Amino acid sequence: MKDVYILGIESSCDETSCSIVKNGTEEIATVISSQIDIHSDFGGVVPEIASRQHVKNITMVIEETLRTAKMTMDEIDAIALTYGPGLIGSLLIGIEAAKTLAFAHGKPLVPIHHIAGHIYSNNLVKELEFPLLALIISGGHTELVYMPDRFTFDKLGGTLDDAVGECYDKIARVVGIGYPGGPKVDKLAQEGKHSYDLPMPLNDGSYNFSFSGLKSAVINLNHKEKQKGLELNKEDLSRSFQDVVVETLANKTAKALDEKNIKRFIIAGGVAANSDVRKKMQEIADERNIEFICPPLKNCTDNAAMIASAGYYYFQAGKTSGYDIEAKSSDKLK
Ligand code: KG4
Ligand code: ZN
Repeated sequence: MKDVYILGIESSCDETSCSIVKNGTEEIATVISSQIDIHSDFGGVVPEIASRQHVKNITMVIEETLRTAKMTMDEIDAIALTYGPGLIGSLLIGIEAAKTLAFAHGKPLVPIHHIAGHIYSNNLVKELEFPLLALIISGGHTELVYMPDRFTFDKLGGTLDDAVGECYDKIARVVGIGYPGGPKVDKLAQEGKHSYDLPMPLNDGSYNFSFSGLKSAVINLNHKEKQKGLELNKEDLSRSFQDVVVETLANKTAKALDEKNIKRFIIAGGVAANSDVRKKMQEIADERNIEFICPPLKNCTDNAAMIASAGYYYFQAGKTSGYDIEAKSSDKLK
């Protein structure tokens, strides 16, 4: 059978990325231009700055990907792109770049939902088999999704307020740990002990998550210590916070694995890079004799390889689109 090469483009938040993936599973070349240094001065992503940076970088990122892969557009079968959800101004840059390339080279366009993309970061480790359970944990999403087959996404539960990564970023900013909070808190947690008493988020027997109470508890604690002229111990706070987060994620996930009698389980999104999350999820899968896949660290946060990987299957299923694709800041997972 002829090999199929998909070029993927991702620009939904603060990473401009392009990748070429062969047959859905083999990453040929990926380029990611991160804006972390630019946004860290503001303690979070500034949408207007993000889209300006995408404009500046996108052509260079695409050219560099083709150069690294030693390929030309003639060898590409289709162009996959993130159409949403994400920041509208950022999404538009990737979408317009994809449309222009598709028009100039006569290639089909394959629109991909950003979260479906995250799920496929695992497909670059091992080809996905269904049914499976996916825990998506990122800066914008906290979702438990059951997939009976490739194109059916049954959302079991999700966050009612802040996403888990967002909570990491917010508490890190308040406590003065820096941006992005996730990797920094994760690192500090490895040197701290669980000494702060923080509330366990939503324990109502549902699959939903709520992290805003935990976030407020950390902010209040910080405030109280400041009033006493004291400082929180950043290592201990990080350890205490991370323990509560990991336990919450693990409890809900274990419940879904048991109740749905699931045999395959994957995690995805920026927070899937968390060292304790990875350990704990492996543990709960092992205890139940369930296959567990997690993406390599570099593919947890936003990248175009996951979009190109998903793009292969959507392309094969005929899920292509005309030039009228619109950016969507939110959309049902599909
Ligand atoms: O998937 P992603 O790049 O963007 C979204 O689609 O949201 O995820 C970024 C999020 C940020 O909130 C960041 O703090 C978090 O992932 N993150 C982590 C870790 N590495 C990145 N959170 C916890 N532990 C980590 N090691
Ligand atoms: Zn993402």
